[in-house]
Amino acid sequence: MRIAIFGPPGAGKGTQARLIAARFRIPHIGTGDMLRDAVRSGSELGRSVKDVMESGQLVPDELIGEVVAARLGEPDAARGFLLDGFPRTKKQVGILDDALESLGVGLDGVIVLEVPERIVIARLAGRSRSGDDGEVRADDREEVIRERLRVYEEQTEPVAEIYGRRKLIVTVDGTGTIESVFERISGSLQELVR
Ligand code: AP5
Ligand code: MG
Repeated sequence: MRIAIFGPPGAGKGTQARLIAARFRIPHIGTGDMLRDAVRSGSELGRSVKDVMESGQLVPDELIGEVVAARLGEPDAARGFLLDGFPRTKKQVGILDDALESLGVGLDGVIVLEVPERIVIARLAGRSRSGDDGEVRADDREEVIRERLRVYEEQTEPVAEIYGRRKLIVTVDGTGTIESVFERISGSLQELVR
């Protein structure tokens, strides 16, 4: 199964991606997580993206494209994968198309998590208060959350239109408990791979 999960900041992509990856035994490729790991490790990549991430802007397409293409070429991704947070610009769709073509595979579907803006803002504000990942994310400050939502509308929403034209979109209601959202996604995925 080769899929991507898509939705605004705070929609629950990472939360659901971890559950899907465990149930369907495929690697979770979360670009935000990979970049945060790089920042923490102080690598060259991490140092080059830290300020951009903290401002709520996107890192350059070519840079993240190389990271993802390399990750997709690793042995564990041969059986399938779940992309979380990529592609998030039209340019990245092209980068992904090229990477998949060179591997001789294609995407089976794109799960779109639909969550109203007031709920995503409440979820992100809740995370910034609780630090539920063990540390507070530098981009969960109120003004940066607003910027991330703006960037999503401007640069990332058009990506859904592209996959819509390719008939790859599976829309899932992302409201309610984590468990109920996961059951909805699992049901849709079972249909997709049947
Ligand atoms: P990234 O890490 O991808 O962040 P994001 O898309 O802005 O969104 P989040 O990760 O905050 O939200 P999520 O949808 O994963 O929700 P989560 O499960 O955490 O990107 C960060 C930055 O990295 C970007 O701004 C950019 O700079 C850079 N970057 C990454 N990818 C890039 C790319 N491809 N190109 C360029 N730059 C890139 O849930 C949120 C909160 O809600 C959590 O506290 C969670 O516990 C809670 N929650 C989840 N589900 C529920 C539920 N059902 N009910 C109640 N609470 C819930
Ligand atoms: Mg995430």
